[in-house]
Amino acid sequence: MAMNGTQMSIASVLDYIKERGGFGGFCRYKYNYDLDHALRVVEAIGRSRNPKFVIDDENRFAYTNFIKWCHGDESMRALNPLTGQEQAGDLNRGIYIAGNTGSGKSWCLEVMLAYSQAMGFAVSFDDGAKEVDRPLFWAITRADEVCQAYVAGGEIQRYKQRAMIGIQDLGQEPKEVLYMGNRLNVLQQLLEYRGDRTDQLTLITSNLRISSDTLKRDYGDRVQSRLVEMCNYFEIKGRDRRKGI
Ligand SMILES: Nc1ncnc2c1ncn2[C@@H]1O[C@H](COP(=O)(O)OP(=O)(O)O)[C@@H](O)[C@H]1O
Ligand SMILES: [Mg+2]
Repeated sequence: MAMNGTQMSIASVLDYIKERGGFGGFCRYKYNYDLDHALRVVEAIGRSRNPKFVIDDENRFAYTNFIKWCHGDESMRALNPLTGQEQAGDLNRGIYIAGNTGSGKSWCLEVMLAYSQAMGFAVSFDDGAKEVDRPLFWAITRADEVCQAYVAGGEIQRYKQRAMIGIQDLGQEPKEVLYMGNRLNVLQQLLEYRGDRTDQLTLITSNLRISSDTLKRDYGDRVQSRLVEMCNYFEIKGRDRRKGI
């Protein structure tokens, strides 16, 4: 079939596009579970790493809804990144966890990754031609490591292409790095790129709230608005847990 000006049905136009790669995307699976049990399992995973690990009032919203997100539970909630109000979550978006240094953001991404691996969750990715199940697994990379990769090789293709990525410490990296005379805000470029893709999941931890002036100043409006669209937003409250109570 060629687009030769003759009238085509809507269905055949869509088939034509799909045959040629379409827009790609993914499909989340739903896994039945008991939320209280899942919270106990996640807490046990955290305790196996640090006996002081707790799910408490400061992080319960993040852990509860992260668990729901993993299980494909449509009752998942998130915060509106601009107003802070609770709203419906979106299983087709990634996750952004904001909070103070030491509040437990990185651990949340890591403990939930361990949970996801232990449970064997999968996502069905559709590249337009075929559907492939892949583990719900976000390779964890620090933002400054992405910058180092650019400094070393002048490109960050592998971070752009990963179907899922977990970026730790957005905002802690240099905002401008050089490769052979080219200056680049590496994370700005990565997030703008991933923000335009509909077939990827991006998980992020940061000391910066999405709504913060610092985030807007360092990455621009485009990144800020893409983050709002790309991620379910959580905040972990509280001060530095490394310092004890
Ligand atoms: N839920 C938790 N309960 C108790 N201690 C925690 C918890 N999460 C993390 N911690 C402790 O706090 C420290 C800082 O956590 P981390 O996730 O690295 O903070 P952040 O990424 O927010 O700076 C960790 O070394 C860990 O020992
Ligand atoms: Mg951290």
